[in-house]
Amino acid sequence: MSALDVAAVKRDFPILRREVNGKRLVFLDSAASSQKPTPVLDAMDACYRTYYANVHRGVYTIAEEATAAMEAARRKVARFVNARRPEEIVFVRNATEAINLVAYTWARANLRAGDAVVLTHMEHHANVVPWQMLAAERGVELRWIPLTDDFRLDLGGLDALLDGARLLAVTAMSNVLGTINEVRPLADAAHAHGALVLVDACQHVPHVATDVQQMDADFVAFSAHKMCGPSGIGALWARFELLEAMPPFLGGGEMIRDVRLDGFTTNDVPWKFEAGTPAIAEAIGFGAAVDYLEALGMDAVRAHEMQLTRYALDALTERFPASLRIYGPRDVAVRGGAVSFLFEGIHAHDISQVLDEDAVCVRAGHHCAKPLMRHLGVPATSRASFYVYNDEADVDALVEALARAEKFFAI
Ligand code: ALA
Repeated sequence: MSALDVAAVKRDFPILRREVNGKRLVFLDSAASSQKPTPVLDAMDACYRTYYANVHRGVYTIAEEATAAMEAARRKVARFVNARRPEEIVFVRNATEAINLVAYTWARANLRAGDAVVLTHMEHHANVVPWQMLAAERGVELRWIPLTDDFRLDLGGLDALLDGARLLAVTAMSNVLGTINEVRPLADAAHAHGALVLVDACQHVPHVATDVQQMDADFVAFSAHKMCGPSGIGALWARFELLEAMPPFLGGGEMIRDVRLDGFTTNDVPWKFEAGTPAIAEAIGFGAAVDYLEALGMDAVRAHEMQLTRYALDALTERFPASLRIYGPRDVAVRGGAVSFLFEGIHAHDISQVLDEDAVCVRAGHHCAKPLMRHLGVPATSRASFYVYNDEADVDALVEALARAEKFFAI
């Protein structure tokens, strides 16, 4: 028995009613971007149809309604990750922008040549390239936490890596391996060395109840589009005092208190970091996505995904005992539902294309984690990833489609 009523959840997602190539759509690419339920679509539709106007500017009714709805969404997002106050949530375009915001503001204000930033071998490019850009510009040293053979962080040398470091930037859940990294002990170790902690929680917040205070992180980045919300909106959570001390990011409207010919003063946190007209309907959709996930219950979401991932790992291993290799931990207690795999001698893209004929959507490629691919010694993997609307029938469809693909390429 699943922890979620998946048949009912499926009915909430209109796209899952469509067919591709005459077959039921089996969407197994939620780690890239999730589908959207009717309440999220309705919330955005209602905004555009009935009260859309620019926010924080107008004094007329619908502008006040739009502003109130957007700030209500901020409060929902803050509550969802247990922020101390709504002002600790900065709306950004996505997790990538959130990490770049930290790199361009806090890091450029505080880091100098010779300072070190500690990363891991399982980071997404979004948590690699901004630090490489900073390193090239400032002479900041990048250090890397390696991986164990069972696809976990190898923390044996952590203290040495953190010695003299100013920042530890780590994913809470790998988008390729599914590995969950327990943030709290990492944060404790980093803080003991005087380093701050940035968490790429893009894959974590949608799937596992996330408590930024329990994590004791300093910055946490996530995106709405992976958690039933729209694209174009995400959040940077940061400790209020840090946001207050950080210089602004983009300059323009909204982020200022005053502008004169000889300079400007900044708005209060978080608007200090929100230059220009924001993604208003998207923020409201983000809030509706939070409502939707809270109604399901994040503990039920996690329990469901653990069950389904265990079912998938068992089904793949039983059906393809010799030909298919899975990249990621086997223990579902330490992993999420992103399952990367490869068939010996068959390119991941070819598999993905054949699966598409059966309307099974999986991602193939380097998953924006090329350093990890190099570590694994592969150019690409196929990746099936599960969410609240997937069930065992979807996994069965994947396995049958893979069997067909394997046979096709064996000829
Ligand atoms: N980061 C997204 C993925 O893993 C796009 O597919």
